[in-house]
Amino acid sequence: MDTMTLHLLVWRQPTATNPGRMVPYTAEHVSPDMSFLEMLDVVNEGLIKKSEPPIVFDNDCREGICGMCSLVINGVPHGPDRGSTVCQLHMRKFKNGDTITIEPWRAKPFPVQKDLVVDRGALDRLIAAGGYVSVSTGGAADASAIPVQRDHAETAMDAAACIGCGACVAACKNASAALFVGAKISQLALLPQGHPERASRVRSMVALMDEIGFGNCSNEAECEAVCPKDVSISNIARMRREYIRALLVG
Ligand code: SF4
Ligand code: FES
Repeated sequence: MDTMTLHLLVWRQPTATNPGRMVPYTAEHVSPDMSFLEMLDVVNEGLIKKSEPPIVFDNDCREGICGMCSLVINGVPHGPDRGSTVCQLHMRKFKNGDTITIEPWRAKPFPVQKDLVVDRGALDRLIAAGGYVSVSTGGAADASAIPVQRDHAETAMDAAACIGCGACVAACKNASAALFVGAKISQLALLPQGHPERASRVRSMVALMDEIGFGNCSNEAECEAVCPKDVSISNIARMRREYIRALLVG
């Protein structure tokens, strides 16, 4: 099988406070069957052999479910494969001789820590502001004990597919977290377990988005275009409706 030689331009930044810059590397003998992160592993093995510091990047499950991998590849969060995380992107999407730029998520609420790693703790703060059901509900009820309308159950499941990667923020020119928060608001507003805290949840999560410094949504839909789990921007519309409802009903 033919292998590829690729020209990489990678963001290197030694610490959060040091300036960063794009550094060129050559990746040789790249198999089209490698994942993008495996290709970076091979580049790093070469750097370690030369006693150079390896490129630091976030990843965990490598199965598209944890939301850790976070690279902007050729200007697109998670790269060119729609509906896919970086860890599920394969090198067959590229051609021999291609130049590939690799950068961290760019958003003020996601400060760069080192190289390609950013601090996404702001998303955890948003969840802590109400993105969960706080009451103890005891053991799991029988599946059919609480009736849920079918379309509500399916829409809630689609919203729950969010893995908290933050690509939606990185893709948005306003660095808005509206898709991430909208997904959580929708998921819980559509299920009976989320109803008791429905109004306070949307009020506190929306207020914290502003306080942290995420921008407003201006309906660009860039978030939906890069979301690896195809979370729909209709969740942002539902978040707005929920917010107005919370103002009216308290
Ligand atoms: S909405 Fe999509 S892009 Fe945004 S954090 Fe969730 S999975 Fe990632
Ligand atoms: S490493 Fe877990 S989603 Fe990519």
